[in-house]
Amino acid sequence: MKTFLLAAVLTLLLSTSAAHAADSTMIPHLETRGRATQLIVDGRPWLILGGELNNTAATDAAYLEAAWPKLTRLALNTVLVAVAWDWIEPEEGKFDFSVLDGVLAGARKNRQKIVLLWFGSWKNGVSTFAPAWVKADQRRFPRVRVGSGSAIEVLSPFGEAALAADTRAYVALLEHLERVDAQHTTLMIQLENEVGITGDSRDRSEGASRAFASQVPAELLQWLQEHRTSLSPELLAAWQAAGARSAGTWQQVFGTDLKADEIFMAWRYAQYMGHIAAAGKAVYPLPVFTNSWLARADNVPGDYPSGGPEPLTFDIWKAGAPAIDLNCPDISVAGFDQIVRVFHRPDNPLFIPEGLGVAAGVANVFYAVGAQSGLGYSVFGIDNTVRLVMFPPVLGTAPPTDLESLPLAKGYAALRELTPMILEHQAQGTIDAAWLSAGKTSQEFDLGGYRLRFELRRTFWDQKFMTDLGYGIAMAAGPDEFYIVGADVQVTFQPRTPGPSIAGLAVDEAGHFAGMHFVAERKLNGDDIMLNYKLAQQAQVNQSGSGARFGPEGPTIQHIKLYRYSP
Ligand code: DGJ
Repeated sequence: MKTFLLAAVLTLLLSTSAAHAADSTMIPHLETRGRATQLIVDGRPWLILGGELNNTAATDAAYLEAAWPKLTRLALNTVLVAVAWDWIEPEEGKFDFSVLDGVLAGARKNRQKIVLLWFGSWKNGVSTFAPAWVKADQRRFPRVRVGSGSAIEVLSPFGEAALAADTRAYVALLEHLERVDAQHTTLMIQLENEVGITGDSRDRSEGASRAFASQVPAELLQWLQEHRTSLSPELLAAWQAAGARSAGTWQQVFGTDLKADEIFMAWRYAQYMGHIAAAGKAVYPLPVFTNSWLARADNVPGDYPSGGPEPLTFDIWKAGAPAIDLNCPDISVAGFDQIVRVFHRPDNPLFIPEGLGVAAGVANVFYAVGAQSGLGYSVFGIDNTVRLVMFPPVLGTAPPTDLESLPLAKGYAALRELTPMILEHQAQGTIDAAWLSAGKTSQEFDLGGYRLRFELRRTFWDQKFMTDLGYGIAMAAGPDEFYIVGADVQVTFQPRTPGPSIAGLAVDEAGHFAGMHFVAERKLNGDDIMLNYKLAQQAQVNQSGSGARFGPEGPTIQHIKLYRYSP
């Protein structure tokens, strides 16, 4: 009887786990929950608090072994790590997944999730991570040719053999993952890396030139017509300047300047990579994204990889690669808030695969997840911890030792604590964030019936003296109630609904979250909340003179309840 029972229980367990494996809704995927699209892992939304390892770190087992504990100390929950074509298929048709398996084992042991970066045909636009058997066979795998006529070390996206071989390798990778990753350690895949042509605005190889002289495919033109009202202003302008034609060659439709070259290349790269993404998804449908090397103001296409997803070419990618879920910006330049507003669209959730890790980077994470419903953020070169203290890193600088005290670690720790709250408020649309610097010392937004004004924190003694970096996320918790997490900011409130015109602080308490539950630690009042003693002046602008202040030690969390009175 006992044996029979045991067998029955075992059969039940096995059939449940088999059903689980087959249940594709358990595979990490993107899902729209209320007002936000989120990454769902094992049935729950996941916020990526990540870092990307240096390009080849994964191949160095001893180095990696030493790096994992640092990542835990930095409060990361997700590591972006490369898997290169050359590492898995050094000989054609013979696959070796030992590097990947080592990464998966290390991640699991150190309780990290991973996002894989597929360095296949291109990495930063060039083809150095393709296997030697690909690189050496120029006839079978044609190269891009630039204006001078020279072939460069870049596989031509017009090469059909390269597309077929890259697809085969990528599918083998996903087949392997599907077999070995029932734990869902891998959350998403970045396809290739910062693609596009550098050195010229378009590929001038034979196949490419033929395609450039041909008609723009009807399917692209139809897509543009159908999405006319939501196209990026840059693309719409280029199309309209050339007469908004519904047929013609690339130059007839998009003009005779370099924009036509860039749009042409974008269409081809999108088709190439869209094909790879679709083939991979047929095997194991993890979310797929691209990353972009962004054009700078004084750049022409070719200074940056021409054809990658940029504001001009974004819609071309959407049209050409429906199997790619999102196109993401790599951001190490100023103006983070403006850049992410361009990349976050109804058809494109926001994720930053490569960002800064210094204090300004923490402000960026807060803005991405708080103001733009971001899926998360990842610091480039996280294993080089000097980058978390200074950017660009100065050669020879000693790495920091007290990792837990770094701005990034403190910022990620606060966000980890708040993750369930943040994800819930993203879905409900009851969250926003401020991103302040010396060039933008205040920011206002409406939330929960109030206008919140964030300013850089001033010193108590000298109102003119401000910090030069501050950030904060606010969540509306109920009527007249907020949770705010921030550093180096002060926040005041202005009612936006009928009733008495001044908001005073009824409750302001510092504390922490345990799950969705706030645990108060200190009642804030007096010097903690007084921002301005000129009360008569303050009353005239419907202010009480007090507000929530967040110091440099944070980010810290405050629970705030407001009451209202008439002046
Ligand atoms: C951006 C690339 O995507 C990364 O792989 C790396 O090469 C960095 N640039 C270097 O800072």
